[in-house]
Amino acid sequence: MQLLCPVCQMELKKVDRLWRCEQGHSFDIARQGYVNLLTVDKKHARHPGDTKEQVAARKAFLDSGYYAPIAETVCEMLLPHAPKAVLDAGCGEGYYLTCLQDKLPQTEFAGIDISKDAVRFAAVRNKQALWLTGTAAALPFPDGSFDAVLSMFALTVEQEFARVLQDGGKYLQVIAGEDHLMGLKKIIYPEILRKEKNLHPHLAGFRLLETRTLEFPFTVTSTEQIQNLLSMTPHFWRISKEGAQRLQQTQTLTDTAQVIFNLYCKE
Ligand SMILES: C[S@@+](CC[C@H](N)C(=O)[O-])C[C@H]1O[C@@H](n2cnc3c(N)ncnc32)[C@H](O)[C@@H]1O
Ligand SMILES: [Zn+2]
Repeated sequence: MQLLCPVCQMELKKVDRLWRCEQGHSFDIARQGYVNLLTVDKKHARHPGDTKEQVAARKAFLDSGYYAPIAETVCEMLLPHAPKAVLDAGCGEGYYLTCLQDKLPQTEFAGIDISKDAVRFAAVRNKQALWLTGTAAALPFPDGSFDAVLSMFALTVEQEFARVLQDGGKYLQVIAGEDHLMGLKKIIYPEILRKEKNLHPHLAGFRLLETRTLEFPFTVTSTEQIQNLLSMTPHFWRISKEGAQRLQQTQTLTDTAQVIFNLYCKE
């Protein structure tokens, strides 16, 4: 897979334990195997993206299989298109990419995330994919590098995604539905404010091919996994002290996941 230098956009070549461009910019391959392409000017914080604690919590929750139906739906929607090169943008600790790769062993996979901790976990989990720290807002790949891009509960940068996709390439956007994790919300918020959300956004340069809504119940039976679930959601940042206390006292949570899958085709 061809990588571009995030500083000068020239091709990077792999030399021993680093990737280097002709201008002499170089990027080390970490011990775990990932490449850090996040340059200081693209960082908005010292440790951007999910924290180590959030990443560890997400891994523990996802590895317990609660969200396996989400991974299965990703596979069902992408396998018929037999992609040869897939990018997971905002890949987190690599759970979904790895599930898809298990079904597509001949396909090339790359995952990028702005959180170094997430990418480190991903690289430990899976040695068969190319893992990068970097921003999805400026992808370090030449035009048309992929025939599928995936964004799971992460950002959509339609212009960049369209640029790195070949014509006819697929973009699978996976987002939370309006009723996602209502059980958790009812515990942590005194009142639930419904915000209008565009669940099937129009994306410039793309046509919506197919959309699915997946709903499934699940029960979490430990306070630790309930906390893990919380830290995977945006509620982790919004929760009040009282809400956090109520959740800490919750031993069992029965909830419903509601997830929207939008499959777009690059025009
Ligand atoms: C809600 S998490 C989802 C992670 C993973 N896709 C999953 O579903 O398990 C969102 C991810 O987006 C990453 N992220 C945030 N801003 C980003 C950016 N500009 N470029 C790449 N990744 C970003 C975060 O670090 C985090 O890992
Ligand atoms: Zn360079």
